[in-house]
Amino acid sequence: MRKPLIAANWKMNKTVGEAEAFLHDFIPLVKEVRDTDIVIAPPFTALSAVASRIKETPVQLAAQNMFYEEKGAYTGEIAPGMLTDLCCTYAILGHSERRQYFGETDEILNRKVKVARSYGLTVIFCIGESLEEREAGQTFSVLQREVQEGLKGVGPEGIVIAYEPIWAIGTGKTATTGQAQEAHRFIREKLSALYGDAASSIRILYGGSVTPENIDALMKCADIDGALVGGASLKPDSFARLVNFTR
Ligand code: PGA
Repeated sequence: MRKPLIAANWKMNKTVGEAEAFLHDFIPLVKEVRDTDIVIAPPFTALSAVASRIKETPVQLAAQNMFYEEKGAYTGEIAPGMLTDLCCTYAILGHSERRQYFGETDEILNRKVKVARSYGLTVIFCIGESLEEREAGQTFSVLQREVQEGLKGVGPEGIVIAYEPIWAIGTGKTATTGQAQEAHRFIREKLSALYGDAASSIRILYGGSVTPENIDALMKCADIDGALVGGASLKPDSFARLVNFTR
């Protein structure tokens, strides 16, 4: 069925030395893991160092963002081919921090998803509602719009969805398993409308204050196939515990 995926989003944390020290301790804790995909998204500056350290380990590499043009005069941006050149196999796109602080719209994200897929990158496409939207009863309409607009003209292959309620990110407030499962079920229905039967093989990750304390309960939900983790992915023991969640 759907292979679980546990992904670390390090955000703007860790120098090259800190990333190497993390891997030194983390890899021995997960080197036998075969039944869960493990992905780490370091900052761009540590991609190369992490790429060389994870060879012949079960850990795969992700970028936290990417530009939609392939090359040219775009100061400060990173092209998809630069990521595949560093052995990145995943790209996180549409994280709420990118949407919120860097003005990434559904339209921009759709361009990014298309280009990432054309380079063979598996896309972890993030969606989620803010607290105001949840309180105004708009959760499902926001999720529907983000799925439909973000994935317009994109096939089901190489797509992973991360449902991250914005109010749960970095706040210590996790969605209850009921709230998370309800949103995941809804997202899978929308994916079915787009992709038919192929929707049943798309992984939907939960993100937002995932910790060693709540991972097991979340992973027991029928439509939760993994986690996208910020804070609790920064320490080797903690991230290894998430990868080794209790089935
Ligand atoms: P958090 O971040 O685990 O620190 O809440 C999750 C994310 O933003 O992907």
